[in-house]
Amino acid sequence: MAFWAEKARTLLDWDTPFTTVLDDENPPFFRWFTDGRLNVSANCLDRHVAAGRGDKVAFHWVGEEGERRSLTYSDLLAETQRLANGLKGLGVGKGDVVGIFLPMIPEVAVAMLACARIGAVHNVVFGGFAPSAVRERMEVSDAKVLITVDGARRKGRTAAVKEAVDAELGDLKTLERIVVVRSTGVAAPMLEGRDVWYHELCEQADPVCPPEPLDAEHPLFILYSSGSTAKPKGILHTTGGYLTGATYTHRLVFDLDPSSDVYWCSADVGWITGHSYIVYGPLSNGATSVMFEGAPDYPDRDIWWKIVEEFKVTIFYTAPTAIRTCIKWGPQYPGRHDLSSLRLLGTVGEPINPKAWLWYHKVIGGGRCPIVDTWWQTETGAIMISPVPGVTSTKPGSATTPLPGIFPALVSEDGEPLTEGTGILVITKPWPSMLRTLYRDDERFVQTYFSRFGPNVYVVGDAARLDADGYFWIIGRIDDVINVSGHRLSTAEVESAIVAHEAVAEAAVVAQSDEQTGQAIVAFVTLTGDRVGDDATVAELREHVATRIGKLARPKRVIWADDLPKTRSGKIMRRLLRDIAEGRALGDVTTLRDPSVMAVLAHKIVESDPDE
Ligand code: PRX
Repeated sequence: MAFWAEKARTLLDWDTPFTTVLDDENPPFFRWFTDGRLNVSANCLDRHVAAGRGDKVAFHWVGEEGERRSLTYSDLLAETQRLANGLKGLGVGKGDVVGIFLPMIPEVAVAMLACARIGAVHNVVFGGFAPSAVRERMEVSDAKVLITVDGARRKGRTAAVKEAVDAELGDLKTLERIVVVRSTGVAAPMLEGRDVWYHELCEQADPVCPPEPLDAEHPLFILYSSGSTAKPKGILHTTGGYLTGATYTHRLVFDLDPSSDVYWCSADVGWITGHSYIVYGPLSNGATSVMFEGAPDYPDRDIWWKIVEEFKVTIFYTAPTAIRTCIKWGPQYPGRHDLSSLRLLGTVGEPINPKAWLWYHKVIGGGRCPIVDTWWQTETGAIMISPVPGVTSTKPGSATTPLPGIFPALVSEDGEPLTEGTGILVITKPWPSMLRTLYRDDERFVQTYFSRFGPNVYVVGDAARLDADGYFWIIGRIDDVINVSGHRLSTAEVESAIVAHEAVAEAAVVAQSDEQTGQAIVAFVTLTGDRVGDDATVAELREHVATRIGKLARPKRVIWADDLPKTRSGKIMRRLLRDIAEGRALGDVTTLRDPSVMAVLAHKIVESDPDE
């Protein structure tokens, strides 16, 4: 415990120093630094400005159409204070939930920091999600205010976000106010008395808003993530422990020197990677970062490398799926640019295949940059297993060994510890940035993570292999979660979106391995009545899923099924569907109610395989 106490004390500024490090009286409800008080926004902004670093750039923002905007720590502090006061004026107080549905524009960071400043709990929804997903997340978290945007740009097109938000959330009673950032200038309907422009709110607000000293265990944010059921899990992180984890790991894993590095994480702020490694970690450490609004192939496939060259980026953090896409596009795009400023590369979100690792190392890193393959989750809040540059020898495809202070282990199905081989990944000691609960659902929290091996063993949900050198090789999820391009989706969530279509009687969704996206979604669908599945219906279903969840949840393949394989108790046998989707020999079918279903399905998939 002395280790984490030292990290929390030296890396963060506390209004009231803590004397208790870990309260483990009531596992799995662990509490850290309980009698301490601090403010996250003060740690991310005020302390740097007070130390004379106000003119240092916090974000070099690059817009999709080539715009550039640099925000210093002083700029961010000024805007955060105004918005914080603006939110207070709208009636937002300590503990109130504020939804944030914004694209990658600097206001997204300001919105998060303004909430942190006054003790409001932010609930960011990834900008690529559909408004119905936003509604669900606002509804279940009882959000009082939503901060959104007039429109969002994507590859030269503008989507009317506010209009779509109104159509979906307009009648949500608990949502009292909507704050709208004017970003693209696209027409945005504004409802008198409910809606307010972000810039007007900030202009009218008092410029000074002292940071609220908050209990270390005060909730900082909720971030919804996919689990085994259709209902997303509201993962709750708190103030002191989370910021300790994000600050410590960002500094250690990226070997950060805030005085000289230019850091760029290409994730979206709407995911945990963006929370911890675009906003909180880098700002708490006083780093200079790049924030990019756009897509990696707009206006051309070299835009990322153009940005690296222009800003002399030294540390670059991305996902394996992006690297695989770059490999497909070819080395000529990075080859057009001077990438010699880079000194460290990172990956996150899914296992990286050795071929992609080696390409990243050679083509992007010029053979000289260490790669940190970082394993962690929304739940862990911060990186858990990763090489430490200059310390850990890497093996392409392995996240290597746990960071100091983190205690993962591999166990068998029965919970027996394994020193080598394949097993279930668990974490055997609490750590400061761990999730505290699932918002308003303590029971599901205990059930999901701490029921299998008792309240002191966190069950990750991944399978892994441990080699003779003690290196971890993450294999993938062991629950009904699909990892598409490093993004978590629940099979149940996608199924319920498909079934909501009037033509669908039943659907089962499984993952299939995919060279580009790691895993891809395959949907087995039974239609109602005499409806016959055709290409137009496939397109309709894909679109239907896109509007209910988001584009990344669209099934890559739809397979029409007259019936689905079920056990005698009526449970869909996904294992068999996975075998079919992967083209493997079928496993045991004797427990099926009607084994002939499988023969028909296996036949159909061959017919519908686009590669055939
Ligand atoms: O299966 C693991 C995979 O992503 C899951 C966590 O997803 P999420 O909460 O959305 O957070 C993603 C970004 C932290 C994990 O359970 N995963 C994440 N990083 C890696 C990984 N799998 C292999 N190697 C990684 N480096």
